Amino acid sequence: MLHAAQIAGPGGRVIGVDCNRDMLALARRHRLTVAERLGYDNVEFRCGLIQDLRLDLDRLADELARQPVHDQWGWLEVRSVEDRLRDEAPLVPDESVDCILSNCVLNLVRPADRRSLFAEMYRVLRRDGRVAVSDIVADEDVPEPLQRDPQLWSGCIAGAYREDAFLRAFEDAGFHGIEIAMRQKEPWRTVDGIEFRSVTVVAHKGKQGPCLERNQALIYRGPFKTVEDDDGHLFPRGERVAVCDKTFRLLQREPYSGAFEPVEPREPIALDEARQFDCRRSARRLPRETKGSDYAATTAPASSCCGPDSAGC
Ligand SMILES: C[S@@+](CC[C@H](N)C(=O)[O-])C[C@H]1O[C@@H](n2cnc3c(N)ncnc32)[C@H](O)[C@@H]1O
Repeated sequence: MLHAAQIAGPGGRVIGVDCNRDMLALARRHRLTVAERLGYDNVEFRCGLIQDLRLDLDRLADELARQPVHDQWGWLEVRSVEDRLRDEAPLVPDESVDCILSNCVLNLVRPADRRSLFAEMYRVLRRDGRVAVSDIVADEDVPEPLQRDPQLWSGCIAGAYREDAFLRAFEDAGFHGIEIAMRQKEPWRTVDGIEFRSVTVVAHKGKQGPCLERNQALIYRGPFKTVEDDDGHLFPRGERVAVCDKTFRLLQREPYSGAFEPVEPREPIALDEARQFDCRRSARRLPRETKGSDYAATTAPASSCCGPDSAGC
């Protein structure tokens, strides 16, 4: 948290979310000490579940104190109170966060809640926001008997994702540019021959939105023969692939910077004049589409083709 507070700086804001009473009390107790050391106070701790970041559990506690639950009718009433709180005073509002950091928490969320866990991370992030998650993963499926062992559950073993499924969960939630930023070489623990290790995954939000045709292309530089992005576009090395305006911009930013050579059309197409682009296809962009069919220039070389800036001829 100290790290996050430093990265956010005095102008930023850090929200820590946990559902454990002791952990929250500890964190809240030390908040001011950290603020004094840093010289600014930009951290707050909120009580909630990461798979339900709309529900503010401190507010729910206030409601329960006013209206305690004694029977099933009371419990049904609480469910509508929860919905009201989610709508009226969300713990973390939609698209309000630039970066999510998490360390060793996702594996503690029960399997039935995992889809909403990823959906919630996606919901609270702003467009172009990032998530960096460090968690324990397994190299094989964790068998049922191990999953039911409470000791292994709290020890971050029983709920570990299989490592490939962990990355796929980011894909399924709509993230793009998903990378393994760190993978422990040696296992942290081995149980019944299954290796458990820590990985850090970084993923980005921002590939949603309309696809507009502005006659742009991207040329993948290599070294792989072909790469595929998170929307299923294939980029064979060296080919001019037709892309929509959104993909054109997206694939020139982090984490793809430098991987593609952008080709702009000679005659730009204004955004408000752009037609829909069918982003499901992977098509080549013919040079005449970007240059114009009546382009007939013949030019003299600006300098020697063997100059210091060229690769030689
Ligand atoms: C293994 S500790 C990791 C704590 C901290 N991230 C660190 O690096 O020291 C797991 C923490 O996640 C919290 N936790 C577990 N399940 C949670 C959930 N569904 N929502 C929010 N917090 C959760 C626990 O209360 C505990 O504080």
